[in-house]
Amino acid sequence: NQGAPRPALKVLLAGPRGFCAGVDRAIKIVEQALDRWGAPVYVRHEIVHNRFVVEGLQAKGAVFVEELDEIPDDGQPVVFSAHGVPKSVPAAAEARQMLFLDATCPLVSKVHREAERHHAGGSHILLVGHAGHPEVIGTMGQLPEGSVTLVEDAEAAATVQPPEGPLAYATQTTLSIDDTTEVLDVLRARFPHLSAPVKEDICYATTNRQAAVKAIAERCELIVVVGAPNSSNSVRLREVAEKAGCPRAVLIQRGRDFDPSLADGLSTIGITAGASAPEVLVEEVIARLRERFDVVTEDVTVAEERIVFNLPRPLRAPAPTAA
Ligand code: F3S
Repeated sequence: NQGAPRPALKVLLAGPRGFCAGVDRAIKIVEQALDRWGAPVYVRHEIVHNRFVVEGLQAKGAVFVEELDEIPDDGQPVVFSAHGVPKSVPAAAEARQMLFLDATCPLVSKVHREAERHHAGGSHILLVGHAGHPEVIGTMGQLPEGSVTLVEDAEAAATVQPPEGPLAYATQTTLSIDDTTEVLDVLRARFPHLSAPVKEDICYATTNRQAAVKAIAERCELIVVVGAPNSSNSVRLREVAEKAGCPRAVLIQRGRDFDPSLADGLSTIGITAGASAPEVLVEEVIARLRERFDVVTEDVTVAEERIVFNLPRPLRAPAPTAA
C-alpha cells in the first residue's frame, strides 16, 4: 500500500524510568522461591503494583492472596510484597511456623526503622502519605496503635492535632517531592521542633523518575506514563508531568490500552514508566506509535542508577541438594 507518508513524531524517553532496585529484588525473590521450593509460592498482596508482572508470576505458579489466613498449612513459602507489612504479619507467619520471605524494599524498611527509633525516643510520628496504600498500612503497623498520625496533604498538615510532646515525621517513599516539601513546610511552621529522618524517606528511584519527567515536560505536548492506577509513584509521575509544564499526561497500563491517535497533530511526546512497570510495556507503547507515525526516539537521561539490593537470607544460602 503506497499510502501517504506517516507523519513524523519525536518521542522523548525519560531516563531513569521503570523498574527500581526494590521492584527488581521483589520479583527475583518470588522467581527464586519458585525455583527452590516449586509451586505454589504464596504472595501476600500484589508483589509490586503491576498486573503484567503479577500475571507473569501467576503463570509460573505464584498464588496471590490478601491475607495469610487464605493460605493452607502446606509448608510452601509465602512472600511479603515490596511495600512492606505491619509487624503483625511476620508475627502471625511465625506463630504458624510458615516459611516466609520478606520482599519489603530495603528503603521502606529504612523508614520503618527510623519511625521505630523516633518512637523509642518518645516522639509521636506524623506520617505523610496516602490513606489505604499498603506502604502506609505497613509503616503505621510498625508501631503501637495511636503512635502515628497520617497527614495526607497540606490542608491536613494545617489542621492536624498531634498529642503534646516531641514530634517526628516520616513519609511514604513514593510521594511527589514538591507536594511533600509543601506539606513539610506547613508542619515545620506549626511544629518548629519536628524531627526529621536522618536521610529523606522519598527514595532515589522516585526522585530520579520525577526529575527525568520534569526534564522532558516542557518539550512535550503529551506525556505517556506507563504504570498501574494503584501504583503511587506512577500516579505521581502523571501529576508531576502536568505540573512541570506538559499540557497533558496520561497513565496507561500497557501498549494495547494506548490509543496512538492521541498523538495526532503533535510533534513531540514523552514516555516514562513507574518503578513497577517493566520496559517491555514501554516498548509496546512505542510499537503502537510506530503503527501510525514515523517515530524518532531520543533518550533524555538525568541520572545513572546502579543500586542493587541483596536477596533475603533464606535465598542467599545454597539450595539444599537432593539426598
Ligand atoms: Fe524501593 Fe523506591 Fe522502588 S522504596 S521499591 S526503590 S520505588
